Amino acid sequence: MTATIEDALAAALAAGAEVRGSTSPNPPVGAAILSADGEIVGVGGTQPAGGPHAEVMALRRAGERARGGTAVVTLEPCNHSGRTGPCAQALVDAAVDTVCYLHPDPNEQAAGGAEHLRAHGITVRRLDAQAPDLLPWLTATRSGRPHVTLKFAQTLDGHTAAPDGTSQWITGEAARRHVHEDRRRRDAIIVGTGTALADDPSLTARLADGALHDRQPRRVVIGTRDLAGSATNLHRLGFEQYPDIPGALEALWESGARDILVEGGATLASGMLEAGVVDAVQAYVAPTLLGGGAGVLARAVAGTLADAAVFDLADVTRLGGDVLLTLTRKD
Ligand SMILES: NC(=O)c1ccc[n+]([C@@H]2O[C@H](COP(=O)([O-])OP(=O)(O)OC[C@H]3O[C@@H](n4cnc5c(N)ncnc54)[C@H](OP(=O)(O)O)[C@@H]3O)[C@@H](O)[C@H]2O)c1
Repeated sequence: MTATIEDALAAALAAGAEVRGSTSPNPPVGAAILSADGEIVGVGGTQPAGGPHAEVMALRRAGERARGGTAVVTLEPCNHSGRTGPCAQALVDAAVDTVCYLHPDPNEQAAGGAEHLRAHGITVRRLDAQAPDLLPWLTATRSGRPHVTLKFAQTLDGHTAAPDGTSQWITGEAARRHVHEDRRRRDAIIVGTGTALADDPSLTARLADGALHDRQPRRVVIGTRDLAGSATNLHRLGFEQYPDIPGALEALWESGARDILVEGGATLASGMLEAGVVDAVQAYVAPTLLGGGAGVLARAVAGTLADAAVFDLADVTRLGGDVLLTLTRKD
């Protein structure tokens, strides 16, 4: 059966999703090569920084069969020689006929790949689709700080703990598995000192049987309180601590983090919203009512409805008996 551009796109998106969490500060790009006779002959994702980019991985696998074919890439092929050669030139050298890409490269240094390809007689098309796994990196690159996702688990009426403090577990098994799967795709997980002291979290990405995932995000705590003697798990596994939000974001950006997950508590979540740095929200909502207890936020972040933090609803996913709402910053 002959494969289509849509099939190649699906393969490229899957390859990008697979490498997310391992490529920063580079983007998690996926690429697929459709041969002239309609077969997917090479698929690849960007390797850890310093390694080959997605196009090169896919071209290597395709070999001679890339000639006259179509390359589908989730990001415009780069046009600069960093630690690896320019991907646009690699596609020219492989003599592909057409290059289809989804997102233009917002990085000035690397942009111009499409132009370079056209100048060498290659047909270039921008496809009308999005690569969800690239969006945090794109936002981070445009804003010059890591993309921030605020994550919490809440009851239907917005509580994260009951009046007596019990909070384990508000959501069910499927939602908790999703959290761990999500963690492995992030560059860092952040909590406030309040959570580190109260919960002694390990902030690791774990499989259902408790074993560690192959990829672990950096563990970060924000706040000034001394964690010695309390945050046993964090001390055992290693963590970074920063006194404030701007300092943490700057240090994380400088050290290559592009995609970070803030896991609470309510005081830090309020601070992140007040700082205007929340790009996305992941709310795991349980079909439970408490009527009282701790809230998602520690204080009002708006005095009137017109000033409320409003997001676009990007996705609704059912996870067992719970629902995951994915929200993105309103443009
Ligand atoms: N259900 C859930 O989804 C969930 C998730 C996480 C936590 N929790 C619960 O939440 C509770 C802890 O929440 P919490 O609100 O007390 O603590 P928290 O938000 O984890 O930490 C508060 C501390 O973080 C630092 N911080 C917060 N905002 C800051 C800002 N804008 N600038 C600088 N530093 C900032 C301060 O540290 P210093 O005082 O050290 O300077 C502050 O005291 C725990 O009981 C935990 O179990 C629930």
